[in-house]
Amino acid sequence: MLSQHDIQEAERHGRQVYSVYVFEAPLRVWHWVNALLMVILAVTGYLIGKPPPTLAGEAADHYVMGYIRFIHFSASYLFAIGLLARLYWAFVGNRHARQIFLLPFTDKEWWKEVIYELRWYLFLEHTPKKYLGHNPMALLMMFFFFTVFAFGMTLTGFGLFVEFRGAGGIGDWLFGWVVPLLGGSQQTHAWHRLGMWLMMSFAVLHIYAAIREEVLSKHSLISTMISGWRMFKD
Ligand code: HEM
Ligand code: HEM
Repeated sequence: MLSQHDIQEAERHGRQVYSVYVFEAPLRVWHWVNALLMVILAVTGYLIGKPPPTLAGEAADHYVMGYIRFIHFSASYLFAIGLLARLYWAFVGNRHARQIFLLPFTDKEWWKEVIYELRWYLFLEHTPKKYLGHNPMALLMMFFFFTVFAFGMTLTGFGLFVEFRGAGGIGDWLFGWVVPLLGGSQQTHAWHRLGMWLMMSFAVLHIYAAIREEVLSKHSLISTMISGWRMFKD
């Protein structure tokens, strides 16, 4: 929150500054933990699909792939629990917490804003707009390349996981249908791997956009995901 002194100081320089509390603590903690988990999952997942050269000696002695898979599966459980916790927070948190789960598909004005933001990102518009929550273009990307994929990766991941464990048990009951539905183990691996590349492409664009908007837009971005406060400048 800005102090009265900060506001007066800004106004003396002809600027208006104010802050609004937007992202609550659970959402922010989830964002950073989730980002870290996704990096761990992408690196270990990449190595599962393209393993390092075989080492001499018994596999059980050095256990390289065993550790890589162990880290992938441990991070997977945390990722899935985090996703469920984030879904819960969409129900009990503030209205910004619901954004990435519910797109205003039928709102024509919102689609116009998406186009405006796209043009702004392409440097075709020169006046940045201010948003309290996510901007419409960012939200569209987050919904399709994070929310949808996060559930997709969890389903295909657990589908593959329960495949090793064989028929029977609660895991098989919950996820045993995924691998047959996608046409087999090889196909499920391929979809899971493609999901990793698409989510990582999103992450690259997302980080670029966060830094770009921090500099070019008229409100804070990265610090908002740290402190929760959106600071509007001018
Ligand atoms: C964003 C999340 C995730 C990413 C980026 C990711 C990435 C990957 C990648 C790239 C592979 C290698 C696929 C291949 O080339 O064969 C893989 C394998 C696998 N992942 Fe994930 N994964 C994620 C989440 C999960 C989750 C939630 C689970 C649930 C248990 C999971 C379980 C597995 C399993 C069982 C394998 C196959 C391991 C093997 O064949 O030895 N993954 N993952
Ligand atoms: C794998 C890495 C990452 C993923 C998957 C990811 C995903 C997301 C998601 C899903 C949201 C929406 C949060 C919500 O409403 O619950 C978000 C917001 C945000 N992320 Fe990330 N993030 C990643 C890394 C980063 C990094 C490294 C930065 C900083 C440079 C960053 C900056 C932000 C900011 C500033 C927002 C809020 C945007 C706004 O104010 O509208 N993210 N991210």
